[in-house]
Amino acid sequence: MVASNGNQVVETLRWRNGRLEMIDQRILPIRFEYLGYGSAAEVAEGIRSMVVRGAPAIGCAAAYGVALEALRWRAAASGEFSAAMSGAFDVLAASRPTAVNLFWALKRMRAKWGGVGDRAVDEIADTLLAEAHEVLAEDIRINRAMGSFGAALLPDGARVLTHCNAGALATAGHGTALGVIRSAVEAGKRISVIADETRPFLQGARLTAWEMVQENIPVTLITDNMAGFMMSRGEIDAVVVGADRVAANGDVANKIGTYMVAVLARRHGIPFYVACPLSTIDLGIPDGTGIPIEERAAEEVTGFREYQWAASGVSVRNPAFDVTPAELVTALITERGVVPQPDRARVAELFAGR
Ligand code: MRU
Repeated sequence: MVASNGNQVVETLRWRNGRLEMIDQRILPIRFEYLGYGSAAEVAEGIRSMVVRGAPAIGCAAAYGVALEALRWRAAASGEFSAAMSGAFDVLAASRPTAVNLFWALKRMRAKWGGVGDRAVDEIADTLLAEAHEVLAEDIRINRAMGSFGAALLPDGARVLTHCNAGALATAGHGTALGVIRSAVEAGKRISVIADETRPFLQGARLTAWEMVQENIPVTLITDNMAGFMMSRGEIDAVVVGADRVAANGDVANKIGTYMVAVLARRHGIPFYVACPLSTIDLGIPDGTGIPIEERAAEEVTGFREYQWAASGVSVRNPAFDVTPAELVTALITERGVVPQPDRARVAELFAGR
């Protein structure tokens, strides 16, 4: 989130006194607290337990996880350093499976390490920390670029439905889907947001609603099963969501429930936009059927925190993401521009010259 003087006021991740600090998103909006991290294993646990969540934020956290481990071993001999670093990459890669930004960031950090592998260990560690800072700064720049491309798609007065939280909290700042909304508001458009609650982890009710309220952007909270009603009454003009992984053909994995919203949007002739940086596009996966979908704990569905409302012993499914076929996507909004009706050729074009 950005203050009127342009400074980032809420930093989802920040570097303080040689440690990574991340807002504990499990307890928002009841409490606003940072937790400190000093190693790759700790960061991996922060990702797994959802202290930090949202694809680009997970990527930034992973980059810092690598850097922290390098700093921990900066006085070690080269062989010992390499062994510790391999362990760091492995533990981070195992933290969550769906958001490809995690693996994108690890690949980038590994390439950076490879480029300076013959230098002194402490110099390698400094280089990796500088790269983690760059991953974070670049994410904000990319979100701003997506924001201005996306803002042009939203008419003045638009009532925009979003699902999950694809805001500043899901990124290094500004957000992807909420970045589009923020940029439209900054451009002087009167935008109001309809936030899906987003069962079972409540990213919409807890995080999107909190972000919008903080900035006085009008927001109305609905439960996930109300979106069809709202659309049928003509109360939604556009849908903008983020993504965790986009396949080479444009199929989009995002928070569970996104597919349902996309089907409803098509039924009602409402544009369905997906804001996603290039780091969320996985050209190695031909279509959505190949995207790994995380299954999370049954307790997230049977209750919330210490409360349980479901019958004990009931069997539960808890897939955390679903896949929206590319044919339901009106356009992808990327830092390289808007891709209408994405398909394999149009997605490939985004990477031309890279
Ligand atoms: O399980 P989460 O909270 O990590 O899921 C996050 C989402 O699905 C977001 O919509 C997605 O990462 C886009 S974030 C800019």
